[in-house]
Amino acid sequence: MPYAQALTKAHAAFLTDLFPGDGCLLTPEEMNVFATDAGRKRAMPWAVVRPENREQAAELLRWADAERIPVVPRARATNQVGAVVPVHGGVVVSLLRMNQIIDVDERDFAAVLQPGVVTSDLQAACAEKRLFYPPDPASVKTSTVGGNISTCAGGLRAVKYGVTRDWVLGLEAVLPGGRVLSMGGRSHKDVVGLDLKRLFVGSAGKLGLITEVTVKLVPLPEASASVLAGFRDLASCMDGAQAVFRSGLLPSACEFMDGAVLAVTRMVGDVPVASDAQGALLFKVDGTREAVDAEVRRLTEALGTVQPLSVEVGAGEAEEAIWEVRRTISPASFLLRPDKLSEDLAVPRGRVAEMVESVHSIGREHGLPVLCYGHLGDGNIHSNILFDKSAESEEAKAHAVKDELFRLALRLGGTISGEHGTGLAKASFVPEQLSADELRIMADIKAVFDPHYIMNPGKGW
Ligand code: LAC
Ligand code: ZN
Repeated sequence: MPYAQALTKAHAAFLTDLFPGDGCLLTPEEMNVFATDAGRKRAMPWAVVRPENREQAAELLRWADAERIPVVPRARATNQVGAVVPVHGGVVVSLLRMNQIIDVDERDFAAVLQPGVVTSDLQAACAEKRLFYPPDPASVKTSTVGGNISTCAGGLRAVKYGVTRDWVLGLEAVLPGGRVLSMGGRSHKDVVGLDLKRLFVGSAGKLGLITEVTVKLVPLPEASASVLAGFRDLASCMDGAQAVFRSGLLPSACEFMDGAVLAVTRMVGDVPVASDAQGALLFKVDGTREAVDAEVRRLTEALGTVQPLSVEVGAGEAEEAIWEVRRTISPASFLLRPDKLSEDLAVPRGRVAEMVESVHSIGREHGLPVLCYGHLGDGNIHSNILFDKSAESEEAKAHAVKDELFRLALRLGGTISGEHGTGLAKASFVPEQLSADELRIMADIKAVFDPHYIMNPGKGW
């Protein structure tokens, strides 16, 4: 698609008029931070704007479509795949000023909000009314609900509660050309027509600008407790998880850490797992107080059948301490090498052991350390490939490992991305997973919403 090549004086005047004061940024110094995201690739935008309402957003997209100016929506930019890097220039739209919680409704079990609300702020507002918005990505304290919707964020509670997609009841979006489209609403059930709002969930800003969100809520679980168990090997870890699910429990988190993760986290602090363990499982259960007590009993009994090397229960104030080891993984990993590629393959749940074993042997073949941890209950395992850019050929080796991991996930019937998305980093691999027919239909759908391809171009499909 032919885009405008730069911002003219008239374009800049239009933007400063529509977004007065610091609503529009045009200098390189001010725009610098908007050139990148947690994936650390960079490209400078031509302008950054900060709408405060849907009318401004609609006028922006009317103009941008007519002028063929690329538009890249972003919020906290915590994605790791370059999803909001403006590779074709254009206007970066920060949604962070649209950050009002409009309503948290105890009778409808629904919340209405603007996209720039930080997810943990929504959770806190819900908790005040004893309501619960379950999606819980690791970035929950910094990322926004709009960003979570654009990426279909997953996270730690997905095994019980599903991912962001499962909690979106309604969306309002502004489309290129300036049309405002309202999809869904507060009704928890709705089977009329195609579910257009779902197309926006995970669409990574490629269809339009989300300007209002309605999410589903449930009662706030009264209590929770967590259990951390160490095992002698990978196979016993998998048996442990299987024993828990077979006992009829559905924990709200079921996380896995391999032996390499335990070793590296031990380098930075105490890890309450048996020192000879070669893998660990971390569970959380939630519900009423009585149910949580009963579930912890049943969970530890189920684990007992596979002879764990250690079992640590954390309830009440002690619960958070148990999660410290999970939070330490990412910072601790840099003790092994200064650089890393973080992948988020997902495979059918029954094939996780095969995947983890293969990931380690691929790492060994290339002489690089690899850590595996994450959402075992979803078959979604984070593989961190550690390398040193300054060491000869390590970066190339890391990419060779990554390519093999992608092939491995597809061979096992899985996906190259369970939750982080494809962005710039994986755009070229998407056609290896999706068929030509699927890609063609996606392109056709994109063209219906965005006929001139102005929305977040350069990121595949
Ligand atoms: C996590 C992020 C990396 O689960 O997805 O920690
Ligand atoms: Zn994750």
